[in-house]
Amino acid sequence: MKTLKMYEASDKMVTLMRDNYHLLQTLESFGIHLGFGDKTVKEMCEENNVDTYTFLAVVNYTINGHSDFNDDAQLDVRTLLHYLEASHTYFLDYQLPTIRKKLGDCLDSDNALGQLIMKFFDDYAREIQRHMRYEEKTLFPYVEALLNGEAKKNYNVDTFSKHHESTDRVLIELKLMVIKYLPSDGKTNNKLMAALYDIYNNEEWLRNHANVEDYIFTPAIRRLENQLKQDKVTRNISTMVNKSGNDNNDMLSDREREVIVSLVQGMSNKEIADHLCISVNTVITHRRNIARKLQIHSPAGLTVYAIVNGLVDISSVKL
Ligand SMILES: [Fe+2]
Ligand SMILES: [Fe+2]
Repeated sequence: MKTLKMYEASDKMVTLMRDNYHLLQTLESFGIHLGFGDKTVKEMCEENNVDTYTFLAVVNYTINGHSDFNDDAQLDVRTLLHYLEASHTYFLDYQLPTIRKKLGDCLDSDNALGQLIMKFFDDYAREIQRHMRYEEKTLFPYVEALLNGEAKKNYNVDTFSKHHESTDRVLIELKLMVIKYLPSDGKTNNKLMAALYDIYNNEEWLRNHANVEDYIFTPAIRRLENQLKQDKVTRNISTMVNKSGNDNNDMLSDREREVIVSLVQGMSNKEIADHLCISVNTVITHRRNIARKLQIHSPAGLTVYAIVNGLVDISSVKL
């Protein structure tokens, strides 16, 4: 794939915009406004609380159709989320109504074909709206939850991917309909060309938006999901370790510890009873409780436990 240029953090923002005017709207969706003087990409991003790595990943992808960012872990999902939300607002609140108005201006409302094309456009707009609303109501809150360390059951980012083909198809049909069938009286030709030009731009914009979602946003979320799963496993293991550690240490009484020390020094039940001034039956009860609490039943196992937990010194152990 041909690469025009991969921009870097040290490039001047004005150079990036001069060479790629169609990025103006992308910039707005990142919340970066014009008037950057000679500031670099990094300086402008930092000034506007935008993650530079993520900004460059999107921008280079938009320019080249691919990006050489190779570390999903460095992508800032919050930056992507804000960018996508702002892009939706731009598209639904500005782009679609503008194209509709331009189309309406050059269509004769009495003409049946013109009405049909408007109806087609409205169906298309509704479909796009439905798609974006779905992302805003289902996908984005899901990602917010992931960022807060919560995973939802029965949903993952793969449920969402592959939603973009049908919207593409409708737009291509609309474009062909206008080109092939729209009657023109010559007076509205310029307006019609402008509307058509907007539709082409719209198509390109939408495809790039979908690509950013599929090839940048989705892998970043997948990584977040995996990380959360891994954290959960690590948490479970450490809980189990702590729990078993607590059980071993905290639950033993002082008397039980004394019984263990006597046992590992090779004393019999009778000797322990005499040594601790308790009955043999009590020694047996203590031994049963020790075995239950520690889940250790052999004298050798108890010896290891006593040494590891500092109950006895290895030199005092009868091996
Ligand atoms: Fe979207
Ligand atoms: Fe989408």
